[in-house]
Amino acid sequence: MARSDGFCNRAEAYEAHDNVPLSPAEADAIGDVILRRYSRREVMRGTLGATAAAALFGPALLAERTAHAEEEVDRFAFAEIHAGVDGTHHVADGYRADVLLRWGDPLFPDSPPFDPLRQSEAAQLKQFGYNNDYVAFLPLDDKGGRGLLCVNHEYTNEEVMFPGIVRQDLICFPDMTPELVAIEMAAHGVTIVEIARDEDRWRPVLDSAYNRRISPANTAMTVDGPAAGHERMKTGADPSGRNILGTLNNCAGGVTPWGTYLTAEENFHGYFWSALCAQSGKPPAGLGGAQAKSYDRYGVPGLWQAWGKFVDRFNVDKEPNEPNRFGWIVEIDPFDPASVPVKHTALGRFRHEGAECILNKDGRVVVYSGDDARFDYVYRFVSGGRYAPDDRAANRRLLSEGTLSVARFDADGSVTWLPLVFGHGPLTPENGFVDQGDVVIDARIAADLLGATRMDRPEDVQPNPVTGRVYVILTNNKDRQAGQEDAANPRAENVLGHIIEMIPPDGDHAAGSFAWDLLVRCGDPSLAEVGARWNPTTSDNGWFACPDNAAVDAQGRLWISTDQGEPWPTGRADGLYALETEGARRCTAKLFFRCPVGAELSGPCFTPDQETVFVAVQHPGTDATDRYKGFERASTFADPATRWPDFDPNIPPRPSLLAISKVGGGKIG
Ligand code: FEO
Ligand code: CA
Ligand code: CA
Repeated sequence: MARSDGFCNRAEAYEAHDNVPLSPAEADAIGDVILRRYSRREVMRGTLGATAAAALFGPALLAERTAHAEEEVDRFAFAEIHAGVDGTHHVADGYRADVLLRWGDPLFPDSPPFDPLRQSEAAQLKQFGYNNDYVAFLPLDDKGGRGLLCVNHEYTNEEVMFPGIVRQDLICFPDMTPELVAIEMAAHGVTIVEIARDEDRWRPVLDSAYNRRISPANTAMTVDGPAAGHERMKTGADPSGRNILGTLNNCAGGVTPWGTYLTAEENFHGYFWSALCAQSGKPPAGLGGAQAKSYDRYGVPGLWQAWGKFVDRFNVDKEPNEPNRFGWIVEIDPFDPASVPVKHTALGRFRHEGAECILNKDGRVVVYSGDDARFDYVYRFVSGGRYAPDDRAANRRLLSEGTLSVARFDADGSVTWLPLVFGHGPLTPENGFVDQGDVVIDARIAADLLGATRMDRPEDVQPNPVTGRVYVILTNNKDRQAGQEDAANPRAENVLGHIIEMIPPDGDHAAGSFAWDLLVRCGDPSLAEVGARWNPTTSDNGWFACPDNAAVDAQGRLWISTDQGEPWPTGRADGLYALETEGARRCTAKLFFRCPVGAELSGPCFTPDQETVFVAVQHPGTDATDRYKGFERASTFADPATRWPDFDPNIPPRPSLLAISKVGGGKIG
């Protein structure tokens, strides 16, 4: 039976899940007072969009300010490319973008070659997974020619992955089989692979002892922190509540100061299923019994995948606690292929976009993480212990204990970090919390009670170790209504997104309060009704929409990758943009790389020598292809909008990791 929600493709389903706001409404929207505040601040900074600025300043004064910004040296020397869309990728002149790893590429000497007509679980477990997302590079030598890549494989698109299969979640998964589900599970997770650079390019080292595939199906993991061993973590397969099989929907992540990899479990709710939902396409009221409130707040079960039809632990009718074992930050030691990954419950359970770390000046480790849903929150974890440069084993315990807080952004320009501590404030048995395990399992409900600020889909939260500031990437939120604007989310129907800058006092990332400012409001600055905010030196190619991932290069400069998803508000391909945060050119964006049609861009990740940036092109040929001029239909395996990157008539589009470098060598940008 068809589901009632009728989405056109997978990305639309992901978007539409959040149509029902999950966090409670704020009592008072700040509205016009805040908009006045922004006008004043923007006038002082001179970083309004060109049209609005012209209206405020008059053309003569605006021209003077723009000239000042143009005189300042552009720290990004590359010549930007033209915005647009077609079936392939484009990078700035003088650079090359080499395909390093594609879905299905071998990772081991005995990996079978990629054959999309003969896929199997066994083959996929020895091949590069699907939908590459976050990328980390950990050097193996001081010369920068060898390193380990850690790559997340976030999800699968069955309609372009398997021959003869259309999108299954629309129609109750009639064509999915246990074999296809096993392949999907094997295509999720993480790849760890050694790469080496010869004179020509980076290549995977297939006989490296470091190479490893981690998946939801084959990798045993342990749990630490307040929820380890908790009643709500116990299942039939794991009566201890301390041993979990696998990780899934690994979106962005982070690297710790001691050289381990953090992978963030994002849309875990979508992998759970219930026979009770099968007819209506949504969970009946009260599903989850005593955990019904938690199920509701987290959107469990999400019914995006067929896994629960065939694998009991993903069927909440059979294993009601299994959803509590996902939605965590997982630490993996890529330097030890036999190591057991650890789910750190002290960092809370939500739809973690990422887990970017910074070593605070007092030696504590700080991890920032966004909860990527409309009206959800920005979190921070501060370790209890301090980093010990010579004691890696002790450092491996730093994420086991500490303080998780959630952000409240106030109109006076301050951020207050509200600690999620059992017994403090409203986090008591009267409100359903029996211990700290409950608090971290239901971090969203705890944050609701603390009065955190409801944000426009927080994606990466990226500290800049050079400047000490932190960037909060807010991708979009079309459901914020007029009157629901607040200081940190100042636009109604925010389909384009914005970026906030947080400023810790004296560079102290553990401080109880920070300052904050709005960096950019995305969109086309030539259209007054868009309300975009860029430096006027931003060209018509440079502005962007729906920022998602962020990276800081070795020079401390910010780069942003975008993901417009199915709404595709700009009609231009997603890409990688340099975004100046300093000086008179602050808030100037420039387009460096763009994706093929239907893809989002993830990564990006710079090598320490800044001579390579790795970018992950995710789900090429899928999003919004019904509006791609000349194609104008949904992609399928047999009929995709592009066959990037192989352009072989027998090969579907393949999510792929690219290594971008300067022709002839030199630093990127
Ligand atoms: Fe998986 Fe929020 O992007
Ligand atoms: Ca993302
Ligand atoms: Ca995304």
